[in-house]
Amino acid sequence: MSRRPFLAGNWKMFKTGDQAVAFIEEFVPLIGDLTDRDAALAVPATALQRAADAAKGSPVIIGAQNLHWENEGAFTGEISAGMIVSAGAKMAIIGHSERRQYFGDTDEWVSKKLSAALAAGLLAVVCVGETLAERESGRTFEVLATQLKGSLADFKAQDEKNLILAYEPVWAIGTGKTATKEEAQETQAFIRKELGSLGLPAEAIRILYGGSVKPDNAQALMAQPDIDGLLVGGASLKADSFAKIVKYGN
Ligand code: PGA
Repeated sequence: MSRRPFLAGNWKMFKTGDQAVAFIEEFVPLIGDLTDRDAALAVPATALQRAADAAKGSPVIIGAQNLHWENEGAFTGEISAGMIVSAGAKMAIIGHSERRQYFGDTDEWVSKKLSAALAAGLLAVVCVGETLAERESGRTFEVLATQLKGSLADFKAQDEKNLILAYEPVWAIGTGKTATKEEAQETQAFIRKELGSLGLPAEAIRILYGGSVKPDNAQALMAQPDIDGLLVGGASLKADSFAKIVKYGN
């Protein structure tokens, strides 16, 4: 089954609204018409509306980096799926390892956030990944199986078009240490097998790789059969570098 490549940038806590608009104005002409792949940018909440306005009429999908599962309420500092949609965005990253590590996101929260995102019609990018200690102690597959089971606990198979998985080994994020294409492939094949054993249409679900992706390793990673896209942090902050990644192979 052919899965449409999905190239996503994750800006993390970088860029103001003005900077987001300037990036998009430079980026859109660089990528041109995207007929055979998707490009997305997860921007800070304060830049969502302006980024979505700037990307209107272009193929670029704008998304948030996190959300709360309630529609509204006394949750200081949080934003809901409905608020993300009303800002004009169409996607949300859920359960990024930095959320899990620094802000206490659990698999149970990820599952609730995923349900809320899908109910609001957002495309959800759910992240999983092992730490260095977990990989070195041979527990990678066990950790991923647990994360997948918990994070997808309430996921219904009919929503598979709006679910994207991202495998991001924690030891490869922002470290300059990319998983080798073989390591990434082996792990992502495992993730696909697990999706199948959870009763999901695994062949239809896109699985991204993330962790120190750069213009010069994008193509080799994308050549792996179970790598359907890339989730890019640092290298998505400059329009020319992210455009090169989006246009890998061209
Ligand atoms: P990086 O981040 O590309 O800077 O390693 C990836 C991510 O955290 O999504």
